Amino acid sequence: MTVLVTGASGRTGSRVAAAAQAAGLTVRAASRATGFDWADRSTWAAALRGADAAYLMHPADIGHPSAAGAIGALAGEAVAHGVRHLVLLSGRGEDQARPAEEAVEASGADWTVVRAAWFAQNFSEGPLVEGLRQGELVFPAGEVAEPFIDVRDIADVVVAALTAGDRYASRTLELTGPRPLSFREALAEISKAAGRDFAYIPVSAREYGEALTGFGIPPEEAAVLIEIFETLLDGRNSHVTADVREVLGREPRDFADFVAEAAAAGTWGV
Ligand SMILES: NC(=O)c1ccc[n+]([C@@H]2O[C@H](COP(=O)([O-])OP(=O)(O)OC[C@H]3O[C@@H](n4cnc5c(N)ncnc54)[C@H](OP(=O)(O)O)[C@@H]3O)[C@@H](O)[C@H]2O)c1
Repeated sequence: MTVLVTGASGRTGSRVAAAAQAAGLTVRAASRATGFDWADRSTWAAALRGADAAYLMHPADIGHPSAAGAIGALAGEAVAHGVRHLVLLSGRGEDQARPAEEAVEASGADWTVVRAAWFAQNFSEGPLVEGLRQGELVFPAGEVAEPFIDVRDIADVVVAALTAGDRYASRTLELTGPRPLSFREALAEISKAAGRDFAYIPVSAREYGEALTGFGIPPEEAAVLIEIFETLLDGRNSHVTADVREVLGREPRDFADFVAEAAAAGTWGV
């Protein structure tokens, strides 16, 4: 089976590619580095030709209005090229992501939607890391609890869905880690393992959006993110689900294991 993996150099895509390879699938890695561009439809056919399945993630937040149109268009072209199974990465509790999910559900392919909790790897890879290097996390999460998920578990579930025939077709899976932690508690675990204190500075979503525009994010993009943060971080996602256990037959990785490994790799070193 050949699987197209979008975002193959990103947090989830790189792990999906590795897990798919380990499962014996042929991986076609898609990102701008390999000539695939979400913003340029002329690059899509070469990526899709001969693929049997695809892992779809959108580089903008999946709830961003631009995501649904692009995902729907790519899903349609995928089906026209004979791709039979689409697995979409979505956000848990994110009403704004429904249009993108609906676009995949209406594609005509077998589909599986994977709604993920907040990634543990947001603390080790991506835009928050720069602030952490300075010793702080400024974020609009208040004291809300979130069952952080290790992106390797997302990848394992994606590959299980791709290799289980139609068992997870027409299914929406909600993936969480095994225990809810507030961002303050998560940072305390990181501080202990890294041997360095990190300050958690909760701010309002609006203040956070203003900071984003200060970093050059266009105001309309920031407005979308503010709305998403305001709704997502209101406690609706604090409970854990059993979907990782159902699909993989094991418990999801614990946040403490992620922290120990990332600390040992020097991620938050002084
Ligand atoms: N962070 C969370 O906690 C969380 C939770 C649930 C869902 N999500 C969803 O996860 C998605 C992001 O996934 P991720 O964190 O795995 O990605 P990521 O780490 O942000 O990486 C983005 C990937 O997309 C590629 N990319 C960027 N622009 C592109 C373009 N124009 N055309 C083609 N490829 C492009 C990048 O590679 P190149 O730069 O080489 O192109 C990279 O491989 C979002 O839709 C978000 O809503 C996130």
